Amino acid sequence: MKKNTLKPAIFLAFAFAVTATTISCTPKVQAEADQKFSTEYLAQGQTIFHNSCAKCHDLPDPSEHSDEAWTGILAEMAPKAKLNVTQHEMVYNYIISVKN
Ligand code: HEC
Repeated sequence: MKKNTLKPAIFLAFAFAVTATTISCTPKVQAEADQKFSTEYLAQGQTIFHNSCAKCHDLPDPSEHSDEAWTGILAEMAPKAKLNVTQHEMVYNYIISVKN
C-alpha cells in the first residue's frame, strides 16, 4: 500500500528533474553555438589561418572552394598544419564567414 502511493511521487520528481535539466541546458548550448561565430572566435580563426596556412603554399582564397570542399580540404590540411580540433573549427568557421 505504501509503495503504491510513493510511485507517483517518484515519477513526478523524475519528470521535474528531466524538465529542469532540459530547460537549464538549452540556453547554454545556444550560447556556445553563438560563441563559435562571435567576432573574437572568428578573429582567432583568421590569425590561425594566416599563421598556419601559408607555410607550405600561398594563403588560399576562401572563395575558391565551396563549403563542402572546405570541409574536405581542412580535413586534409588541419593535420598538416598541426591544428587541434578547436583550431580546425575556428579556421573553418572563419573561412566560411568570409568567402563569397
Ligand atoms: C605542411 C604543409 C602544409 C600546410 C601547413 C598546409 N598545407 Fe595546404 N597543401 C599542402 C600541399 C602539399 C598541398 C597540395 C597537395 C594536396 O592537395 O595534398 C596543399 C593544398 C592545399 C589546397 C588546395 C586543395 C585543392 O584541392 O585544390 C588548399 C585550399 C589548402 N592546401 C589549404 C590549406 C589550409 C587552409 C591550411 C591551414 C589549415 C593549409 N593548407 C596548410 C601543404 C600544406
